[in-house]
Amino acid sequence: MQIRPYRPQQDYRDVLNAQCDLYKINFPKFVCTPAFLADQAQRLRAAARRPFENGIFVLEDGLDFAGFVWVALRMDLQGTYGSIDQVYLREPYRRRGFGKLLMQAAHDFIRKQGITTARLYVTADNTDAVHLYEREGYHTTRLEMERTL
Ligand SMILES: CC(C)(COP(=O)(O)OP(=O)(O)OC[C@H]1O[C@@H](n2cnc3c(N)ncnc32)[C@H](O)[C@@H]1OP(=O)(O)O)[C@@H](O)C(=O)NCCC(=O)NCCS
Repeated sequence: MQIRPYRPQQDYRDVLNAQCDLYKINFPKFVCTPAFLADQAQRLRAAARRPFENGIFVLEDGLDFAGFVWVALRMDLQGTYGSIDQVYLREPYRRRGFGKLLMQAAHDFIRKQGITTARLYVTADNTDAVHLYEREGYHTTRLEMERTL
């Protein structure tokens, strides 16, 4: 297994193909439409043109695509931070410790840009993701709350 930077020519299709699965897992009412995929494709192409602001790293198993992480540098009222926007392993690669490799690649990228805060959003009942992030030192700073009416 190895982690390497995203190569648009080679990885574009694999990262795009993962988008529907990633969103379906995290948003139960999500419907994957051609318009959504077109938006994601455009985001991905834009990110690849800005490699200092967007770190995308691919986990490879030989020649097979196993997963990826996508981190973007952002600034808001709380200052500058690395936003871990997407962490994804294909099903056969989950629960084997590879999530940690993806997180390390994201953290290295953020540190190299001189930034000391990493932040992410996660669906509360995505327990595999929540456990990974907690093991990686994340704690809750804000809560999104909802109720049924
Ligand atoms: C979120 C995701 C990346 C987490 O990956 P993961 O495989 O669960 O995380 P790890 O690779 O760190 O694996 C850790 C789990 O595997 C277990 N494990 C089994 N063998 C292991 C090994 N050799 N080394 C380390 N952990 C191992 C650990 O005990 C741990 O289980 P626990 O959470 O019950 O403690 C993965 O589930 C995924 O891609 N999900 C779909 C996409 C998604 O929802 N992404 C998150 C969006 S916010």
